[in-house]
Amino acid sequence: MRTVKIGVIGAGSHANNVHYPSLSMIEEAEVIAVCDLNPDRLRTTAEKYSIPGQYTDYRKMLEKEELDAVYLIMPPHQLYDIAVDCLKQGLNLFIEKPPGLTRSQTESLAWYAEKHGCKTMVGFNRRFIPLMRRVKEIVEERGHINQCVSVFYKNILSQEPPYYSGAVDVLTSDVIHAVDTLRWMGGSDVEEICSSVRRLFVPYYNSFNAMVTFKNGALGFLMSNWAAGSRVHVFEMHSKGISAFINPNDKALIYRDGLSKPEEISTFEAAGGNTEFHVYYGFLGENMHFIRCVLEDREPETSFRDAVKTMGLVEKIYANSLCKQ
Ligand SMILES: NC(=O)c1ccc[n+]([C@@H]2O[C@H](COP(=O)([O-])OP(=O)(O)OC[C@H]3O[C@@H](n4cnc5c(N)ncnc54)[C@H](O)[C@@H]3O)[C@@H](O)[C@H]2O)c1
Repeated sequence: MRTVKIGVIGAGSHANNVHYPSLSMIEEAEVIAVCDLNPDRLRTTAEKYSIPGQYTDYRKMLEKEELDAVYLIMPPHQLYDIAVDCLKQGLNLFIEKPPGLTRSQTESLAWYAEKHGCKTMVGFNRRFIPLMRRVKEIVEERGHINQCVSVFYKNILSQEPPYYSGAVDVLTSDVIHAVDTLRWMGGSDVEEICSSVRRLFVPYYNSFNAMVTFKNGALGFLMSNWAAGSRVHVFEMHSKGISAFINPNDKALIYRDGLSKPEEISTFEAAGGNTEFHVYYGFLGENMHFIRCVLEDREPETSFRDAVKTMGLVEKIYANSLCKQ
């Protein structure tokens, strides 16, 4: 079996928490080189995962290594030029969210990818959470989802802008997970949107709510606010006579046909009994999907081209806000 030879740019916290552990579990994936500006992180990660190629300059890595794919897991406001360099060399590319800072950047990345024949993927892991995929399949046995809800609350009340000192706004940097999942559940392109963007107790926008009508008639609700009591990230999927309430950190409750007792599926059960975060929270799944798409010459579900639509929805949430302060 052919393996995908990978160079990873970035040995920071997210890559070490989820991507290196996931890739080390995938037989068809082989991380042969790692690059980070920080020599300590570079050495620690390379030693932990026995990665032979070690670089502090990504250009040298691209020049010296025979790579099939690059993982670019670094601050989103600093990755555009590096992403273009990888794509121009025809390398398949996985990046984290957000896929650039604007829809226009994402669109340009998609253009380079298509011009150079690269498979691309954005780490919208919520779509690959085993519990989310299993429940979506069950709900869709009754027909397409006609109503869905993406809830994302956090408790971040610092006056200093979060996410790289404010280089990336809260919606584009993090609430985007809920926006992308809403698109995935809604199941078609966006027709209309009505939204509210607010500042609650802080000088930057931190609350984003929207009602989205999809072209297939489904209705989606985004509810998010970073001035809430704690992190709560849950979803609802409804189809004919069936309703699912999903907390990917815990379990899903599925109600059918007016019965008051729901079917319960735990997130660990859906992940085949595995209790590791990178497995039950969709990171292993997204990595496997990318590797398989590269091997089988298929377009990944969250390709740069698809991500243009998620970034487009993010921009529409700002543009259509009824009560922007
Ligand atoms: N999907 C999720 O749930 C999730 C969660 C957390 C973070 N993320 C995303 O992961 C990405 C990385 O976030 P993080 O928290 O790990 O950041 P981080 O700052 O911990 O790590 C980034 C690493 O990139 C390295 N780096 C920066 N510029 C470089 C360059 N030019 N060449 C080589 N290395 C370079 C830094 O030295 C650092 O080690 C971000 O896009 C973030 O949005 C996603």
